[in-house]
Amino acid sequence: MLAIIWHSRTGAARAMALAIAEGAGRASFLLPAAEAMPAILMGATGYVFVCPENLGSMSGQMKEMFDRCYYPLLGRVEGRPYATAIAAGSDGAGAQAQIERIVTGWRLKRVAPPLVVRLGAQTPQEILAEKTVSPVDLDSCCELGMAFAEGLALGIY
Ligand SMILES: Cc1cc2nc3c(=O)[nH]c(=O)nc-3n(C[C@H](O)[C@H](O)[C@H](O)COP(=O)(O)O)c2cc1C
Repeated sequence: MLAIIWHSRTGAARAMALAIAEGAGRASFLLPAAEAMPAILMGATGYVFVCPENLGSMSGQMKEMFDRCYYPLLGRVEGRPYATAIAAGSDGAGAQAQIERIVTGWRLKRVAPPLVVRLGAQTPQEILAEKTVSPVDLDSCCELGMAFAEGLALGIY
């Protein structure tokens, strides 16, 4: 089963996670980062990490998930496939690089190109407003989920 681990503050990453799950279908499950415990992650065969970039980093709840799960999973998930999907204002590189660095320790294997959706919010009002993601970007998320689930089903990872 593909675990889609997500956190969202203003709705964009949530919409992206839902689209990834729609693409991946029944071979996947959505897992809010706050509920992601080591035993649940151990039971999954692949991972998509979906969150916003906040202040140059992955969001705090996503980081807390890694802090909680890192050592319990270390050495036990080597070679499993993963992908990332970041919601950002104008950047997203910091969040993505952080996640990549952490899962390098787990020896996960990236199986889809990094996906960063930039919403372009600039002012504090825009940044704090609830977000909607464009159909084109949701399609990209859906395709990521579909391709990931297909690869898992075919055992090509
Ligand atoms: C506290 C805060 C900090 C943010 N910092 C960044 C940032 O460093 N880089 C960036 O590209 N966007 C930044 N943003 C914008 C969000 O990443 C962007 O609005 C994203 O779409 C939000 O995703 P969400 O709706 O899933 O929370 C920030 C937003 C907030 C609320």
